Amino acid sequence: KKVVLAYSGGLDTSCILVWLLENGYDVVTFLADVGQSEDFEAARAKAAILGASKMVIQDVKTEFVEEFIWPSIRANGLYEDRYPMGTALARPCIARAMIKVAKEEGAKYVAHGATGKGNDQIRFELSAYALHSTIEVISPWRLPEFYTRFKGRNDLFEYAKEKGIPLPVTQKDPWSIDANLMHISYESGILEDPQTHAPKKLYVMTTHPEDAPDVPTVLEIEFQKGLPVKVVNKDDGTTKTKALDLFIYCNEIGGKHGVGRIDIVENRFIGMKSRGIYETPGGTILLSAHMDLEVFTLDRELRKIKRKLDAEFAEQVYRGFWFSPEAEYTRRCIALSQDHVDGTVTVKVYKGGVYILGRASPHSLYNAELVSMNVQGDYEPTDAGGFIKINALRIREYQRLRASETSG
Ligand code: ARG
Ligand code: SIN
Repeated sequence: KKVVLAYSGGLDTSCILVWLLENGYDVVTFLADVGQSEDFEAARAKAAILGASKMVIQDVKTEFVEEFIWPSIRANGLYEDRYPMGTALARPCIARAMIKVAKEEGAKYVAHGATGKGNDQIRFELSAYALHSTIEVISPWRLPEFYTRFKGRNDLFEYAKEKGIPLPVTQKDPWSIDANLMHISYESGILEDPQTHAPKKLYVMTTHPEDAPDVPTVLEIEFQKGLPVKVVNKDDGTTKTKALDLFIYCNEIGGKHGVGRIDIVENRFIGMKSRGIYETPGGTILLSAHMDLEVFTLDRELRKIKRKLDAEFAEQVYRGFWFSPEAEYTRRCIALSQDHVDGTVTVKVYKGGVYILGRASPHSLYNAELVSMNVQGDYEPTDAGGFIKINALRIREYQRLRASETSG
């Protein structure tokens, strides 16, 4: 009975590891480096002490940026118009790497520590089943024999003490954290009351906007086919062109200036509303710049259709359907829309805000002469009168007939 367990080294997954061993499983632990700051070697040592037969640690940062974050930038990826989906994008990336390990190890099972109330269980398992049709998933927090024994953190602590599991040295924050390159999320604990303000010390990736530098940073961001290919700091000339470096640099600048904080209530796929706080500094800068370049380079009607696909994309990602046929279709259509989304957007990053300063593109559909108030050009102003009257026909009739109904 071999199982690959998604392991973080924390209290929950350490208890799950020992519990699986107790239930006769041979446990291979798996930890993906998606850019969270973590002591990977300490986690490796802990897994070994607890009895894992093997610990696999994999750096998937580059594929996370190129294959998951980049498509989301193209799709202006925001769930419910606000959440840039840092966790949702990382799950299929982690699950894919983990399923590869399960295949290599000949493991029949995979296990994870996500709760039975959230989105992550869905994302993880949909990805696992998609990529390994015969895999079996063990989700301890959904097993009565597990959740009746461990009703809360106190039970986990007791179990850890009893089993000699090293207890976390630092006091746990009164909320739950998920961190990767794209963001850090904070949920549950004291944040469950949607009225409670986040304490200042919660934020890790970003400076408080009010404490951010008084001098802005100006970035020039170049896109090719809707993907960021170059970022230049106009103040000191720093230039980044490799996807991962570029993204990390945007995080650094966004973080320094307090960009990308949101505090929202969102609708989980499972049906409940939950309150979450997120920091997405680099992603927020790139999303703003990309949205700007799109309006500049895409035809109006094409963009209108594309915005509907963007909404589909966000919902598919949020709900865990990354490897579904509809999500593959959506991503390919969106990629097709980006053929001419080339150019440079200049942004000012300042005190929590991203301000667009200007944009340039070899394929812009902008015609300065056509729009100018000073040039007559290839346009008959008298035509506009007819255009407006024809458009008015319908609404004029509508209001006239409704008014006669109420007066008559
Ligand atoms: N609510 C967010 C989402 O569904 C964040 C989830 C955070 N996950 C976690 N295991 N703490 O994407
Ligand atoms: C969890 O339930 O494990 C975290 C929150 C979520 O997945 O939505």
